[in-house]
Amino acid sequence: MTAPLKRLYIKTYGCQMNVYDSERMADVLTPLGYGMTDSPVGADLVVLNTCHIREKATEKVYSELGLIKEMKQEKALTGEAMTVVVAGCVAQAEGAEIMRRQPAVDLVVGPQAYHQLPELIARTHRSRGESLAADFAADEKFDALSPDRNPTGVTAFLTVQEGCDKFCTFCVVPYTRGAEWSRPVDTILAEARSLARQGVREVTLLGQNVNAYTGGLANLVRALARIEGLDRIRYMTSHPRDMDEDLIAAHGDIPELMPFLHLPVQSGSDRILKAMNRAHTAESYLKTLERVRAARPDMALSGDFIVGFPGERDSDFEATLDLVRAVGHASAFSFKYSPRPGTPAAALPGQVAEEVKDERLARLNVLLEVQQKAFNAAQVDRTLPVLIEKPGRHPGQLSGRSPYLQAVHCEGPAGLIGQIVPVRITSAARMSLAGTLSPAQAPA
Ligand code: 5AD
Ligand code: SF4
Repeated sequence: MTAPLKRLYIKTYGCQMNVYDSERMADVLTPLGYGMTDSPVGADLVVLNTCHIREKATEKVYSELGLIKEMKQEKALTGEAMTVVVAGCVAQAEGAEIMRRQPAVDLVVGPQAYHQLPELIARTHRSRGESLAADFAADEKFDALSPDRNPTGVTAFLTVQEGCDKFCTFCVVPYTRGAEWSRPVDTILAEARSLARQGVREVTLLGQNVNAYTGGLANLVRALARIEGLDRIRYMTSHPRDMDEDLIAAHGDIPELMPFLHLPVQSGSDRILKAMNRAHTAESYLKTLERVRAARPDMALSGDFIVGFPGERDSDFEATLDLVRAVGHASAFSFKYSPRPGTPAAALPGQVAEEVKDERLARLNVLLEVQQKAFNAAQVDRTLPVLIEKPGRHPGQLSGRSPYLQAVHCEGPAGLIGQIVPVRITSAARMSLAGTLSPAQAPA
């Protein structure tokens, strides 16, 4: 008989890098006897992996902690302890403040200290005192994490780069994730091989500035593309400044590199881009996309936008709409500017009224939705190679992704999960496509 599992609940906020980090936290805690559970009720260990990028994200953490505190008290009535850990970027940015605001928190761990979780938790259990670990170098973290993963599906995230030195004036990432740092190629390849051996067919390379990868992202992609079984490679997020010729060329000649590019532009106004310290203009951005499309004409484009940056006038916002019209997006994320304490833009004059931000966001979203629908509708009657990822919501249904990252649903046998099959697209909605398997794949 093995000892009963201790129950571990991890809630992940924010970006894909946090999703990756959460998986790695679960990995390092497995040897300690922790098994994942999908509810915090009664859990022995609760980890909130947090996001600090906008104020809303941060506030969500504090309200969740309020609920966790009650569950912890309830558990204490039965004589059992619940250990509460706050990880991620809120932990890095306001560790001491978290402990002050929510005494139910036992431990605060920044993104570079996850490999120390077992030890930190053990120490917490011993002392039940405060512990704060937020200052470690990224290389120690990755050295200490084993290349072996326990992937749960046929796609996986793989962090290759962390941190950012760009210092966009609105952004907390350079402060929460630290300086740009790239993982050595050999450890990335070892992890990717381990994933491929376990049936992973697609990896998404993650980094706050993934295309600033030292040694060239294109070279890394080339090496990964040679791994047996790994048929699809994606990456995010990229900075327009680091979109070099090599990477653009890679999109033309590496079939495994998927035709989807998330390249945030933030604004279409050169005045605002300058105030954001973005080091590109609307025109240079469009030129970059031209080169990308020359290498890969069917490239699907995605971006991030901020409306209501300090000093943004109607004319600046109109310039953003013009740029969006010029690009034609497959998908995009749009945000209202949120002043983050300690960032230069938070102290700028000309903060934009909330109603104005709301109105601009709504107008931008209408345009982006139209573009997304148009992009999806253009796939109808085409036959796309779809990586089947999992059963669909209805019995007999399968769910997968097109090369352009669109969700695709079709009828078919579960045995196709993990295979890339041709699907004829029959209809399109804003968030997904529906289609039918080619006769060769469909059961007789
Ligand atoms: N306010 C609003 N949006 C922000 N982002 C980053 N910082 C802020 C902020 N202070 C957005 C940017 C970035 C994405 C991850 O989040 O668009 O690309
Ligand atoms: Fe933030 Fe700019 Fe760095 Fe992106 S490039 S993480 S927006 S500072």
